[in-house]
Formats: sequence, structure tokens, C-alpha cells
Amino acid sequence: MRALVWHGKEDIRCDTVTDPEIEEPRDAIVKVTSCAICGSDLHLFHNFIPAMLPGDIMGHEMMGEVVEVGSGVNGRLKKGERVVVPFTIICGECEQCRRGNFSVCERTNRNKSLADKLFGHTTAGLFGYTHLTGGYPGGQAQYLRVPYADTTHIKVPEGMSDQQALFLGDIFPTGWQAAVHCDIEPTDTVAIWGCGPVGQMAIRSAVLLGAKQVVAIDRLPERLAMAEAGGAITIDFSRESVIERLEELTGGKGPEKCIDATGLESHVSLGQPDTLYDRAKQMMAMENDRPHVLREMIYVCRPAGILSIPGVYSGFSDKIPMGHAMNKGLTFRMGQTHVHRFAADLVRMIEDGVIDPSFVITHKVRLEEGPDMYRVFRDKQDSCIKVVLNP
Ligand SMILES: NC(=O)c1ccc[n+]([C@@H]2O[C@H](COP(=O)([O-])OP(=O)(O)OC[C@H]3O[C@@H](n4cnc5c(N)ncnc54)[C@H](O)[C@@H]3O)[C@@H](O)[C@H]2O)c1
Ligand SMILES: [Zn+2]
Ligand SMILES: [Zn+2]
Repeated sequence: MRALVWHGKEDIRCDTVTDPEIEEPRDAIVKVTSCAICGSDLHLFHNFIPAMLPGDIMGHEMMGEVVEVGSGVNGRLKKGERVVVPFTIICGECEQCRRGNFSVCERTNRNKSLADKLFGHTTAGLFGYTHLTGGYPGGQAQYLRVPYADTTHIKVPEGMSDQQALFLGDIFPTGWQAAVHCDIEPTDTVAIWGCGPVGQMAIRSAVLLGAKQVVAIDRLPERLAMAEAGGAITIDFSRESVIERLEELTGGKGPEKCIDATGLESHVSLGQPDTLYDRAKQMMAMENDRPHVLREMIYVCRPAGILSIPGVYSGFSDKIPMGHAMNKGLTFRMGQTHVHRFAADLVRMIEDGVIDPSFVITHKVRLEEGPDMYRVFRDKQDSCIKVVLNP
């Protein structure tokens, strides 16, 4: 089959690889009909997440048709059914899964001992991601082996198109969880850093959850325009002071809730000397992340507010003003998304026409064009916001 394969830093190729097969009784094989490139894939593209190996198949946002099921799937998934495959692999039975903490499932990371050593405790297995989270082949491919397939799937209701359903596996629940983590009150200002696909979903979610005002921060005109169309007031961080504008919009008190939808690759600019410091340290492997947004959120957030962090961080971040955060009494909430916790509600919202997540798609291309599209998405060429690939 054809698949997008990681060969090293900034080197992703469309290769012919061996078709996946059923390996365990709870496996299924899905013929991928649509998949997408996520902001998290860019961190792998740049080799900022440790433990990728040449030959790894990329992709964790995918859906398709079940073509084969293992003997242990027990009728919970049948050949011919259309499913979205969430990026987090879940057993459905461990203590964390039973509590709904699906992204920290205790059983699905097949490299558990590695993760135990590095993180202190394992987290869930993830598709198309680092070997720290199992090194499972991803879904930017024609076929995908889904481990624990009897629990790791979301059934697509009849009549729902691929483009409406696809983002149920990652960016839609990610934006939703980020907003839910804010415990939004009708009097709240929610400020969101990053208007990429995750930021866009967080903006629409915060509006739906009833925030008084949603403020979206980025520098890319097309992303700011989409944010505005979604109901946000926008700040262009390349032209204006984020802190001053947020103070102005909140009567000098700061936003009650802040969402970091940027993560470890904060834009590097001369106007923000800390980003130059991070970039230099990152290049010398003395710091993993560029946490400018975290610093800005801690500074501007109203005391006793909440910082919600869907943006991915990879390891060690420097100069995080913990004293400011502690004295202001801020609450940090974060994590890889517990996709399954929200799946049924979000499917219903699409069916009811409350939201159609396909609004974010700007590019639809064949899988073979994937390697080029990584660059287009990374460099924000051609007003690119979200790429969908058709294998
Ligand atoms: N928690 C999860 O489960 C989960 C799931 C999906 C994605 N993510 C993460 O969410 C983040 C966003 O993903 P995406 O797909 O939207 O990626 P993206 O790269 O398209 O978007 C990031 C946006 O942040 C903007 N940005 C950069 N520096 C900024 C700054 N200083 N202030 C404000 N905006 C800034 C960029 O211009 C860009 O538009 C990534 O870190 C990704 O890994 C997490
Ligand atoms: Zn993702
Ligand atoms: Zn589990």
C-alpha cells in the first residue's frame, strides 16, 4: 500500500510499504477513505518529539471502512462499517479508561516500560506518533491496523460525509476539551492563542459554551478572518501588543480563561526576545520547547483564572514564571484529548447542525501530494489552514 513515511527531520515521503494485517484478536483493518495533517505532525516533521524512527508511518487523524476484524472484536465492529479512528488507542477496561481518562489508558502503549521510565507513568498508545507512545503505524496511508478496535472507534452515522466526520478523531474534541477545561461562565472572557485548526475548534466551542467574549490571537490574516467568522474578537500579535489589547478588552483585569492552542513551536520574532532565547536553546538541545505563549498567559490571566493547554509540549521548558502562577492562584489544565469522553455529544452536535467541523478545510489532495503539503501547511503557503488527504 501507499503511505506517508517519516525518514528524518523534514523528510516525509510517500512510499510503498507492506499492507497491515490482523496481529491481535482485538484488531481491525480499516481502509482509509480520508485522513488529515495535524499541527502535532509538524512537531514530528521538525523532529521535536523524541523517539521517532525512520520507516514510521505518519498520521493520527483518519477514518474509513472496516475491511477485516479479529476474532476478539466480538461483533462490536463489523466489516463494511464506516468509522472515525480516534488518535488515542484505548482498551476501555483499565482504571483510567473507566474514569474517562482515555488519553492515559494504562494498557495500550506497547512501549509502556519506556514511557514509565521517561514520564513516570505510561500514557495511552497513539497512532503515527513517537515510540514513547507505542510507535503504532499511522493513518496517512491506504490501510490502517487498529489495535483494540472494539473500543477504539467512533461509528459514523448514516448520511454524515467524510469531511463532516473526520475531525471527530482529533481536532474537534481537542478544541472542545480545551474549552470544557475552562469551566466557562457567561461572564468570562476566553482568550485563545493560535488560530490553527485546534484554535478554530476551541473558538467555536467557547462560543457554544456561552463565553461573554472570545478573543483569538495569531498573526496570519486568513486564520484571523476565520476566527472572526467564528465569533471571536481578534488580535494580530505581529502588529499589536497582546497584553495591552487583552487588558483593554477586560477593563484592565485580564481574561478569566486562557487557552494555549499553539504549543511548543511558538513563532520566533525579534519583537519577542524570549522566543529568540528559546530558539537558540532549542537548537542546542538545551530546551525542548518554545513556551512564549505559556509565559504570556500566566502574565495576563486574571488571578484565580484557568489556563487550558491543548498545545503540545515535548519535554523541558525554561523560564516558566511559576512564582507568578502560584501567587495569582492559577489553575493549569492540559493533556492529550480524551476523545472518547466527548464523542457521542460531538457526533450529535454535527447531526443536529449545531456545528460542521469541515469549515476548517482549505486543501483536499491525493495522498501522493502529502509530502509537499507538509511544507505548505508548515509554511502557511496558499492560505493553508487544514489539509485533507484522500488515499
Ligand atoms: N492536546 C491534544 O490532544 C492535541 C490534539 C491536536 C493538536 N494538538 C496541538 O495543538 C497545537 C495546535 O495545533 P494546530 O493543528 O492548530 O497547529 P498549527 O500549527 O496550524 O497552529 C498553531 C498556530 O499558532 C500560531 N502561533 C504561533 N505563535 C503564536 C503566538 N506567539 N501567539 C499566538 N499564536 C501563535 C501560529 O501562527 C499557528 O496559526 C499543536 O501544538 C498541536 O500539536 C494537541
Ligand atoms: Zn493531532
Ligand atoms: Zn485503558
